[in-house]
Amino acid sequence: MNVQKLTDTAATLVVGDRGLLAMDESNPTCNKRFAKLGIPQTAEAHRAYRELIVTTPGLGECISGAILYDETIRQQKNDGTPFAKALTEAGIIPGIKVDAGAKEMAGHPAEKVTEGLDGLRERLAEYAPMGARFAKWRAVIVIGDGIPSRGCIEANASALARYAALCQEAGLVPIVEPEVLMDGAHTMQRCGEVTEEVLRTVFHQLYDQRVILEGMLLKPNMVLPGLTCPQQESVDEVANATVRCLLRAVPAAVAGVAFLSGGQAAELASARLNAMHVRFKSRLPWALTFSFSRAIQQPALEIWSGQDANVKASQQALLHRANCNRAARRGQYTVTMEGRK
Ligand code: G3H
Repeated sequence: MNVQKLTDTAATLVVGDRGLLAMDESNPTCNKRFAKLGIPQTAEAHRAYRELIVTTPGLGECISGAILYDETIRQQKNDGTPFAKALTEAGIIPGIKVDAGAKEMAGHPAEKVTEGLDGLRERLAEYAPMGARFAKWRAVIVIGDGIPSRGCIEANASALARYAALCQEAGLVPIVEPEVLMDGAHTMQRCGEVTEEVLRTVFHQLYDQRVILEGMLLKPNMVLPGLTCPQQESVDEVANATVRCLLRAVPAAVAGVAFLSGGQAAELASARLNAMHVRFKSRLPWALTFSFSRAIQQPALEIWSGQDANVKASQQALLHRANCNRAARRGQYTVTMEGRK
């Protein structure tokens, strides 16, 4: 195993003020988002949309790495350039989502376990020559009445750790994504308790599976109140709760922490990341950045709506959100960046 290569890639993904773009929506998820906007749900529409993203001028100034889906890493721009090559030429490291999705967990009603370990070694060996230098696996943890269970947390943590070990064996940096969902009426405190338990369990498993922490990234949720919780804490309170949780549970050796957005409003996600940097920058042992999908892409997708005539405006919206999050990493995001006082 080339440890130096892994640690160099991980460090490059989080150095400076850039962050990651998750453009790895599975076909069912992508189709759901396209359907809402009346965009055809075809491989060609997926391709056209991903071409819009990878050809956005200046994207590489804000984005260090882009996570692709299996279909996308096999697709090309109109001129025949594979997307992974186009990203590399734009200064963006290509990565690949390798899990097979979160499935109902037997014996655990309302809970999920992510599958995809079977044949993973062979799939990783296929993706590396296509240009992928890192990978992603997402586990989903639901908060509800009596859940998450220990069984669910442990099964997901174990799969994340086995995936991460296989990635490092193949020379790919694993992004380890245990997502505690925002759905529900739970309090922010409950989200903090669950997130801390999940992260402690994940790092325990990563240690058991001999994963090199310097050669991986963590992609966690922020600590947030449930979407329907009557008490919605302020941006600063979310920043405090999130950083406190991460400081307790994430070893300092980890190369970087890159948040998922999880369905937060795009501007709120930027404001919350910004507050973490304003309040805690000097206390953070790891790089703290973003790996957003919806919080970068959603406004651009809505503007595009499948129309060629909207490509330029859509690219501007994409770059705008990427820039806002880049500013948030420096603690310099303000609402005036959104074009209003
Ligand atoms: O797996 C989920 C994506 O990588 C992050 O998506 O920012 O929309 O939560 P999101």
